Amino acid sequence: MFVLCTWGGRNVTVDEKLNDHAFFATGQHYALFDELRASSPVHWTTSPDQRGYWSIFRHADVKTILNEPALFSSEREGVAPVVDDEMAAIVDEAWGLGQNIAFIDPPRHAPIRKVMAEPFLPNALASSEERTRKLIAGIFDDIPANGEIDLVSDLAVRIPMAVICDLLELPEADWEDMLDWGKMAIGGTDPEYQRGTAAETISFGFRKLFEYGMRRSSERRGCPMSDPLSLLANARVNGEPLTPKLVAYNTVQFILAGFETTRNAFSGGVLALLEHPTQLALLREDPKRLRLAAEEIVRWSDPVISLMRVATADTELGGTRIREGERVMLWFPSANRDPDVFERPYDFDITRHPNLHLGFGAGPHFCLGGPLAKMEIRLALEQLFERYDGIEITGEVERVQSNFVGGLKHLPVRLKPHVMSSA
Ligand code: HEM
Repeated sequence: MFVLCTWGGRNVTVDEKLNDHAFFATGQHYALFDELRASSPVHWTTSPDQRGYWSIFRHADVKTILNEPALFSSEREGVAPVVDDEMAAIVDEAWGLGQNIAFIDPPRHAPIRKVMAEPFLPNALASSEERTRKLIAGIFDDIPANGEIDLVSDLAVRIPMAVICDLLELPEADWEDMLDWGKMAIGGTDPEYQRGTAAETISFGFRKLFEYGMRRSSERRGCPMSDPLSLLANARVNGEPLTPKLVAYNTVQFILAGFETTRNAFSGGVLALLEHPTQLALLREDPKRLRLAAEEIVRWSDPVISLMRVATADTELGGTRIREGERVMLWFPSANRDPDVFERPYDFDITRHPNLHLGFGAGPHFCLGGPLAKMEIRLALEQLFERYDGIEITGEVERVQSNFVGGLKHLPVRLKPHVMSSA
């Protein structure tokens, strides 16, 4: 039986809300998750494709599923929350089931991950920190003198784009195209980004990115360079070269994972600091706090809202029977506010330690770019504080309509530079 609530002037079921991308732009999902985590932590949810799925709300259950890739597959139907027929029809070609690292199950997953992981390990990143700092400073240099910007499109989107393109050695001339395709591929459920239906938009964005990935990665074949794309294009796994398609799908994964999530974390983090001035003051007072703050920003901003898995055998979770072939939807904003794990989960606390959030996932698919993303957030905040005294919100804050990868779409602000003392 469904619980009825009022939303948009009419009665809707809880399940309709969970399937409604617009609902997630309201920020009201946190209250709904609190209710469901307590009353129905493994919740059968009806869906437009009539198949239904299990919604998973507790931190412990989400973690269990992420740590059991043989029992909960990423490859069968993918990890994006696809619960309608039109989306299901495009998912394989768009994402590359069995080709994109995030959509490959063990045992094939580990050796491919090994090839991709090396340039993202903390040691490799530490040596590139100064270069990344300069790159990010370059983005801040472009801010107009009056300081009036949309913090999302002018900073939050451009910073990770600059960093991932520098790492992958992709030209700046390609940024605008990639940003457009990325918005369509990941944010195609939001009317602002749509060209046709959501599925048509997502399919178009991914197709363009895939063609781009094919072109750029084929140029690297046979080149003895050490950037992640060249390493991937020239790798051998079990003695065999990787197919051009697999290399292209993972080029797309690097690009999209590199900027679509980090933009949400950074912009969400700035908004959180503006809404919690005591925390902002703490951070300005001692920038050494930036490392812990970056972690809390990821917990708080929930760049990934949900991920899906498919059960490969009958099993049980929290006393609920899950059958082979059924889908489970992992709701990260719920896991990351679970009071069983987080003391005062609704306090944004930049000193929180330990911080056991699942924002970067867990288990074998744990985010490859986590250390890079946290470094970007830290360096970008460092620039913001060094250059500006205050930030004022000047217009409407808008969130992307998505229950998959979500966050801010617009954050209009005025940045106020430090006043130079004449003494
Ligand atoms: C704040 C920013 C980020 C967040 C919140 C985030 C989140 C995630 C999550 C939750 C997963 C797990 C997916 C799953 O279990 O199905 C993941 C995987 C992944 N992420 Fe990130 N990510 C971020 C930034 C990045 C960056 C900067 C990169 C750089 C390329 C990256 C690359 C990847 C890759 C390649 C995977 C797939 C790993 C695998 O399947 O083994 N991510 N990310």
